[in-house]
Amino acid sequence: MHKLVFCFSSFALLAAVMGAFPPPCDSEIYCTGPILHQVQKAKLFDDDKYFVDMKLKAAPGVVSSAFRNLSNQFPNRTVPPAELQEFLSTYFETPGTEFESWTPPDWPDKPTFLGKVADQELRDWAQKLHNLWKSLGRKIRADVRDHPELYSQIYTPHPVIVPGGRFRELYYWDSYWVIKGLLLSEMRDTAYGMIQNFLYLVNRYGFVPNGGRVYYERRSQPPFLTLMVESYYQATKDEDFLRAALPILEKEYRFWMQNRSVAVKVNGEEHVLSWYSVQVGAPRPESYTDDLELAEGLTDDRIEQLWVDMKSGAESGWDFTSRWYLDGGHNNGTLRETRTSQIIPTDLNALLCRNERTLASFHATLGDGDSAELYNQAAEQRRRAIESVLFDAERGAWFDYNLVMQSKNTEFYPSNLAPVWARCYSRPEMAERAVQYLKGSGALQFPNGVPTSLRESGQQWDYPNAWPPLQHMLIDGLSQLPSEEAKQLAFDLAQRWIKTNWLAYAKYDAMFEKYDVNGDGKPGGGGEYEVQLGFGWSNGVALQLLDQYGARLTSESHRVLSGLLLPLVISAVLTLQ
Ligand SMILES: *[C@@H]1O[C@H](CO)[C@@H](O)[C@H](O)[C@H]1NC(C)=O
Ligand SMILES: *[C@@H]1O[C@H](CO)[C@@H](O)[C@H](O)[C@H]1NC(C)=O
Ligand SMILES: *[C@@H]1O[C@H](CO)[C@@H](O)[C@H](O)[C@H]1NC(C)=O
Ligand SMILES: *[C@@H]1O[C@H](CO)[C@@H](O)[C@H](O)[C@H]1NC(C)=O
Repeated sequence: MHKLVFCFSSFALLAAVMGAFPPPCDSEIYCTGPILHQVQKAKLFDDDKYFVDMKLKAAPGVVSSAFRNLSNQFPNRTVPPAELQEFLSTYFETPGTEFESWTPPDWPDKPTFLGKVADQELRDWAQKLHNLWKSLGRKIRADVRDHPELYSQIYTPHPVIVPGGRFRELYYWDSYWVIKGLLLSEMRDTAYGMIQNFLYLVNRYGFVPNGGRVYYERRSQPPFLTLMVESYYQATKDEDFLRAALPILEKEYRFWMQNRSVAVKVNGEEHVLSWYSVQVGAPRPESYTDDLELAEGLTDDRIEQLWVDMKSGAESGWDFTSRWYLDGGHNNGTLRETRTSQIIPTDLNALLCRNERTLASFHATLGDGDSAELYNQAAEQRRRAIESVLFDAERGAWFDYNLVMQSKNTEFYPSNLAPVWARCYSRPEMAERAVQYLKGSGALQFPNGVPTSLRESGQQWDYPNAWPPLQHMLIDGLSQLPSEEAKQLAFDLAQRWIKTNWLAYAKYDAMFEKYDVNGDGKPGGGGEYEVQLGFGWSNGVALQLLDQYGARLTSESHRVLSGLLLPLVISAVLTLQ
């Protein structure tokens, strides 16, 4: 794991290229400064996230001053690894000390929806997935609230369900699928607390940060809070909750409109669409050496732009993917050609369209027809923008638009069908046409799910990885369409996904964050870190599919019977006749 890092031998050299953009946060320990720089460059730990999750044993000013004193003892101010280790053990605690163990008190033994799962093996497994919530619960210690300067952890008032593995804090878009799973598991109080945390974060920051750490506090993630509130409201019909949440959801919406939107001109007409654009410099603290190595050999201007685009890629939730590559204006190149902030993404705009309609419906529910009308108009405007800029009538789907070449990226991604999921299109035949696009895309030929792209880039949001939220959005979208063909395809994809998750669970006794579309239960790989176990959104998606299709889904052994044995029996019978 010890790669050499040549560039930026000192923090001063790095600081010299950082002109135009603010750092990821203001902490001189966790987001910028010589301690971060030297510790990460020394590669004392396998994962750069380790150091930035350590708690301070003394005030930041004391730790910085001690480090200055220490580094002054060395001619080039570079502290050798042994002395760095010693410094860390004097001034830092190992990660994880900010939590106390917490078992969700609302966890029931046997939620009702389990009864819908007909297949015995799948029902036993669904019970185990339900049990997993207990191991993913985390409560932040009061000390984080009282001494925030000693932690990278951002204090939030309610306990949470975390994704798992290296992701030991709350994450934004993951939590949408977790919360839907919790609601099926009849854990409304836990779901409520998680939503309250996000509302608290919007009040504090004006948007929801990517995750619950200071080094994430200047970037967001796909904005799913409005849909979390919708899911909770649908489960509880609690109007007081809705009334209290709505102004905060509108505050988040204004952030996406004011800080993440851009005017795009096509055919002489101007449209406003949204993008991921994090105008923040420096390497990501939690992937510090990855970002340094990636920038090696580039000019100072390009380095800053690359780090902006890497953070914008992280904000998209797809970190990282060939979807964000732009080489010479085309969707080509390598990770270094990541140019997220030059691309208008289909899925973000579909999601915002759905949010706008959902905000309209909340206002209507609470009796404010004028506000409902405004949000409906915003949704209609975005729908028109999506159709003018992103829709391709010939191919029958929606494609990301890059502002450099002013052209669409016609490669396959599940996000090309996001407007179907969001129901953000003007004519029903557009969605049915998208089903034909999907069938002709080549993405349905894999036994274990729909891949994230058809390009094997080595990045984790590309072939051969399949991700739970993308499967769910695709299946959910198809299942709502009127045609039998779309509904059948939705079921078929649900069956593939459940089989994949179930086989992996049988083999490894674990749920993974992503799976390999060819693996028959093999976890996914690639990217910046090892595949993680746990895993919040995987469990949430599996539980939802088991709820939706529980009467028909089968585990592999039964499928072998019905899918293999039955045709054999039939053909034997036919042969005999
Ligand atoms: C700093 O000095 C030490 C000891 O002289 C040397 O081993 C190390 O390579 C130097 N580091 C840098 C970044 O110049
Ligand atoms: C650093 O050195 C200065 C001067 O010797 C001293 O006053 C200060 O207490 C030291 N700081 C720490 C944290 O050791
Ligand atoms: C959004 O942009 C405005 C200026 O356009 C700025 O004042 C504000 O701080 C930004 N909000 C956030 C949360 O970054
Ligand atoms: C894409 O990149 C590859 C490898 O760098 C190169 O061979 C190819 O010509 C590029 N294609 C386009 C359209 O730029």
